Amino acid sequence: MSRQLNNCVNIEDLYRLAKRRLPAPMFEYLRGGAEDELALQNNRNAYSGLQLIPNYLRDVSSVDTSSRVLGCDVAMPIVLAPVGFTGLFHHHKEVAAAAAAEKYQVPYSLATWGSSTPEEISAASSAAKMMQLYIPSDRERAYVLAERAKAAGFSALCVTVDTPVHGNREKAWRMGMPPPAKMPISSILSILSHPRWLYNFIKNKPTAGVSLFDQAPSPQEMLAAGPTADLVFEDISRLRERWDGPLAIKGVLSVEDASLAVEHGASAIILSNHGGRQFDAAPAPLDLLPAIVDAVGDRAEIIVDGGIRRGVDVLKAIALGATACMIGRPYIYGLAAGGQLGVERALQIFKEELQRNMMLMGVTRIDDVDSRFVHAQVGTANQSALY
Ligand SMILES: Cc1cc2nc3c(=O)[nH]c(=O)nc-3n(C[C@H](O)[C@H](O)[C@H](O)COP(=O)(O)O)c2cc1C
Repeated sequence: MSRQLNNCVNIEDLYRLAKRRLPAPMFEYLRGGAEDELALQNNRNAYSGLQLIPNYLRDVSSVDTSSRVLGCDVAMPIVLAPVGFTGLFHHHKEVAAAAAAEKYQVPYSLATWGSSTPEEISAASSAAKMMQLYIPSDRERAYVLAERAKAAGFSALCVTVDTPVHGNREKAWRMGMPPPAKMPISSILSILSHPRWLYNFIKNKPTAGVSLFDQAPSPQEMLAAGPTADLVFEDISRLRERWDGPLAIKGVLSVEDASLAVEHGASAIILSNHGGRQFDAAPAPLDLLPAIVDAVGDRAEIIVDGGIRRGVDVLKAIALGATACMIGRPYIYGLAAGGQLGVERALQIFKEELQRNMMLMGVTRIDDVDSRFVHAQVGTANQSALY
């Protein structure tokens, strides 16, 4: 591992290194949220506003972070979230992240708009794999992709439902991201001042959507496969008839939707506001967790994402009843900072922080972390660093 990666002792350090390595518009596309970034900020504040009570005088000389999620044994209760067009952030793309997931024995999720195919991911990684689906107006495309993922050894599906329309990410848009936004001269200059990124990008020509289409899609095809405003719960039932493995619904934020999703065949709920990139008035998923666990926790696994930047954040979510957590930006910061080794660094940081904080709490197994440790949920003012 490079000295620079080794010097990264937390996710914020990886964020800083990623910021140096990426041209400004690509970095902004990764970091940013929708509109005033209130949801993005809420996600972090929810974690900083929750405290856990430690217990001491327990034998914590051996701590086990292993758990089970989506029908698989995992080394820690963390899932790598689907991130579209990962090739924008590093030329080794999704396969590098999936290979790191194998090393750390956590599940990897491939995005519909990824720049690698399910077959490439399978060849690169024996990690547990989940295929994320955006169901386009041409529903058949999603069914075909699900079949293709199954044939490639993906064991779970996740349908993202919080995108009836693209989120309004003004900052990224002003910087020219994503196309067809017009790129200002300042963005072009930033790209030119990152020759290594530019060289690798031109050489490898990563494209989004290679999973949905067999080759790089035309702009018209991309448009046609964009957000689906007429997606309904019956679509979940129809998918369930075709898929007998774990089926997660991602982007749920209400008790009503969680219950309906389970009634229509979901076996897991991914409590998420898309990392603050869609509905800016959305509450932090962590704040909704207890109510959702109450409503459907006995019938479905509950995975939570958004703003998880520390191992202790994972423990906070588990204490409130989550089965596991998903991380998006943290591992992509690692990828942008140093390819596969950077993702491994991110996972190593999470693992060490998990172990240390379990010891400080006085627990030796993930299953022992529960609501007894929750002290208070006090919404803090905007204090949390945004990364
Ligand atoms: C650059 C970027 C691209 C994303 N692309 C997708 C996607 O294609 N499909 C999806 O379901 N979620 C996507 N997400 C959302 C993540 O899966 C996840 O919900 C979010 O990143 C979690 O928040 P965190 O980044 O604070 O960990 C994306 C997130 C980012 C940052």
